[in-house]
Amino acid sequence: MIRLTIPSIEDDDLQATHEALASGFLVQGARVAEFESSIADYIGVKHAIVVSNCTAALHLSLLALDVRAGDLVLVTTYSWPATANVIELCGALPVFVDIQPDTFNIDPEALATTLNSLMAVTETAQHVKAILPVHTFGQMADMAAIIKVAEQFDIPVIEDSACALGAKWEGRNAGTWGKMGCFSFHPRKAITTGEGGAITTNDDQLARKLRALRNHGQDPEAAFPDFIMPGFNYRMTEFQAAFGSSQLKKLDRIITARRRLAHQYNNLLENDPVLAPFVPSQSFHVYQSYVTLLPEEAAPHRAEIIRRLKELGIETNIGTWHMPLTTYFRTRYGHSTGDFPISEDIFSRTLTLPLYEALTSEDQNKVVDYLQEMIRK
Ligand SMILES: Cc1ncc(COP(=O)(O)O)c(C=O)c1O
Repeated sequence: MIRLTIPSIEDDDLQATHEALASGFLVQGARVAEFESSIADYIGVKHAIVVSNCTAALHLSLLALDVRAGDLVLVTTYSWPATANVIELCGALPVFVDIQPDTFNIDPEALATTLNSLMAVTETAQHVKAILPVHTFGQMADMAAIIKVAEQFDIPVIEDSACALGAKWEGRNAGTWGKMGCFSFHPRKAITTGEGGAITTNDDQLARKLRALRNHGQDPEAAFPDFIMPGFNYRMTEFQAAFGSSQLKKLDRIITARRRLAHQYNNLLENDPVLAPFVPSQSFHVYQSYVTLLPEEAAPHRAEIIRRLKELGIETNIGTWHMPLTTYFRTRYGHSTGDFPISEDIFSRTLTLPLYEALTSEDQNKVVDYLQEMIRK
């Protein structure tokens, strides 16, 4: 089977984890601190706070901004549902904004239109608390344009960088543009800790609050334990952090390999009805997923294509979710077909191809040959 993804795990990663376990210190120790400082150095921020997964990272980021019941958070339509779920779980409401048809990222013009209309009415203006763009599939949203829109009304931006560790826009890293950036170390990401996440920020006060929120509300700076707010247990273990530090040393190598394989797919798909991912000149794409766009007429047959490719030993998948039309958001907010036409179209046509460091040229040829055969039928 040519798998959709296989994490790059090597002996030194296992050795680091073994040492951490053998030490008997399993939580909140030197290895977590070391992983945090390596992430902060890699990305170029003052603080990195590691947590149990990216959903926890997003949840804490919203809480750190005091997002509460009745507040509004502007968010892309097209993402893994965790992105909008965390808004709901704060009691706030997601205000969905449609995406660009080529990058699949939030459309800054649509964002400006939605934000302007919310800020024009006092009752809604006072509740707008954050903007939550996603760097979809490892390609950054147009953060220069998004920050410009946000600054007009001084609204903080949280970057959902779950898939975008190492990605850049105009040469600047994901996780450095907004007030906070949230990363995932799930096994489908370039590097993994099993489950895991991190929040990056340059803001000392937010960092302190995030550290307290992830650890039962305990003041991270107090000499004696003191509890300054209600908090969660969203901590990462020492052995995950040891594994993560070992993985992080290989991130650049892994990204280089993923980009080379992506370019190889691009060449194979040149002049093909199946479109390769579009990459604007400002973007350094890290290809957490290699997501193609099927021709419109193939969209109704996508499930069948995925099934038949699997029978031929090739694992593929859809891209990600058009969140407003998932059962929960559709029924809660009455979203319906046609509300966000671009996201809806992209949701029906995306197909993710296998991509991992050990994928061979022969594998790639086979994937594209079989896919082309199916599209022709
Ligand atoms: C865009 C996006 N945000 C958030 C998440 C949640 O990450 P985690 O699984 O680490 O909680 C994911 C997971 O894949 C994601 O793709």
